[in-house]
Amino acid sequence: MNNQFSIAGKVAIISGAGGVLGGSIAKSFVQAGAKVVAIDIRQEQLDARIKELTDLSGEAIGVIGNVLDIASLEKAATEVLAKWGRIDILLNIAGGNLPGATLNPDQDFYDMKITDWEKVTTLNLNGAVYPSMVFGKIMAQQKKGVIINVSSMAAYAALTRVPGYSVAKSGISNFTQWLASEMALKYGDGIRVNAIAPGFFIGDQNRAVLINPDGSLTERSQKVLAKTPMKRFGDITELNGAVQFLCSNAASFITGVVLPIDGGFSAFSGV
Ligand SMILES: NC(=O)c1ccc[n+]([C@@H]2O[C@H](COP(=O)([O-])OP(=O)(O)OC[C@H]3O[C@@H](n4cnc5c(N)ncnc54)[C@H](O)[C@@H]3O)[C@@H](O)[C@H]2O)c1
Repeated sequence: MNNQFSIAGKVAIISGAGGVLGGSIAKSFVQAGAKVVAIDIRQEQLDARIKELTDLSGEAIGVIGNVLDIASLEKAATEVLAKWGRIDILLNIAGGNLPGATLNPDQDFYDMKITDWEKVTTLNLNGAVYPSMVFGKIMAQQKKGVIINVSSMAAYAALTRVPGYSVAKSGISNFTQWLASEMALKYGDGIRVNAIAPGFFIGDQNRAVLINPDGSLTERSQKVLAKTPMKRFGDITELNGAVQFLCSNAASFITGVVLPIDGGFSAFSGV
């Protein structure tokens, strides 16, 4: 049966696949029959992920790579083309906030460490731009491909304490619109660029600010839930279907959107 939501057989590059979101999406992709190229900067996490993916009888290869290093991305592209001959999907998932780039409640903005600001803005913005350049070039030659970026609730309205992460994710939302327009105008309707904007999911990057050591909710996470109409955090697997949909032919006329997956957080004023 011709299932327009299917991604079976598509070659998908997933950066940050060693991490929480990338790992969950990578698993759902191999389960849906996609061929996964997992890219991560951490060898051990990458190896563990590839074992997990191949244990699911998925077709997956791991490529150690740095999303901030064009040469390492070009090397990855050569490897993927040699193995599978094309690139259908690029998921720019590598990123995340960094502990040093989160201001303490009693820390002033003007005391922020510039090196941490630079690290977090570079990783979260350039970390999607550079892979889009390298793999987007191949999609332009193919006149076909899908790119998905990861924005954040921090791009919609101010979140306290995370200025660098917020600026970068706002940049990602804008870059998604820009690249979607550029690709369609120059190479036609076969290339689409969209983003997801996850709401609040407990992950390694934010666990300490949302959950106290005794397991209770922090003041910050109580505020998050008060502004979330569904009154809960997301389960990481709740991103998978939306990403698969955006990558499938069912979304063939959707480009340049940032899809919130947030239990209503971005829709609700809080009143
Ligand atoms: N967890 C959440 O609640 C949440 C919410 C909104 C957005 N996000 C976004 O989702 C994405 C993934 O988040 P996560 O929670 O899975 O983070 P994570 O830290 O679990 O995973 C990130 C992965 O990226 C890899 N990585 C880091 N720098 C890299 C580089 N230079 N090159 C290649 N790989 C690199 C890391 O090794 C890690 O495996 C990020 O963009 C994050 O901002 C997460």
